[in-house]
Amino acid sequence: MSSSFQGRPASAKLRPAVSFAITEITMLPTTEQTAELIQSRRTIHAFKPEKPDATLVAKAVELIRWAPNHRFTEPWRVYLLGEETTKDVLDISERLIREKRGDAAADSKREKWNAVPQWLVVTQQLAGDKLQQQEDYAACATAIQNLQLYLWSAGIGVKWTSGPVIRSAEFLELLWADPGTEQAVGLLQLGYPAEVPSIPRKPVADYLITLP
Ligand SMILES: Cc1cc2nc3c(=O)[nH]c(=O)nc-3n(C[C@H](O)[C@H](O)[C@H](O)COP(=O)(O)O)c2cc1C
Repeated sequence: MSSSFQGRPASAKLRPAVSFAITEITMLPTTEQTAELIQSRRTIHAFKPEKPDATLVAKAVELIRWAPNHRFTEPWRVYLLGEETTKDVLDISERLIREKRGDAAADSKREKWNAVPQWLVVTQQLAGDKLQQQEDYAACATAIQNLQLYLWSAGIGVKWTSGPVIRSAEFLELLWADPGTEQAVGLLQLGYPAEVPSIPRKPVADYLITLP
């Protein structure tokens, strides 16, 4: 167990509702289905009230660890927030917004965030030199995409947020995480989409450079 877990009460440890061991792949989606999954996934800003299926969320968390990671650092930690912690996170966020952007912005954000059915945090264990930390951040980002894509295939949407709240010391304290050895990568909102936005992308020609 990593040192960042020390001092944290046993009840605060991540305990997925269901534990999965994926032992074999029996069927893969077609290439077209894979492309469609990737292309159709959207960041969801409005959710239906019901909580996402706990078994599917637990499986998505299991899939995080299959993300690519250089030198097998497996730098991610995942926190599934219960009601108490969610309220504490929302309180911090609301206060930060009130201080910086005023009452209207704070109230509006609180109302929106109160309506999010499930929250989950992905953090990165900070270890090694600058290069390793950069690579570990990249690994955590791909891990989040694993989770997003799996959930999307099951009709569950995600919004990855990275506002000031996740960089506040209080936020990491709530997770019983040591800011010296761990940083938050994403505060994720999960739920069934109330609407799916349409977001444009630039054409491939804008980023593809073909070399001789
Ligand atoms: C590192 C990272 C941080 C993000 N933080 C936020 C955020 O704080 N608020 C937000 O609304 N969306 C956030 N997003 C989601 C992006 O806004 C979203 O991916 C983008 O609008 C493209 O939309 P799509 O995911 O539907 O393709 C973040 C995405 C990434 C990769």
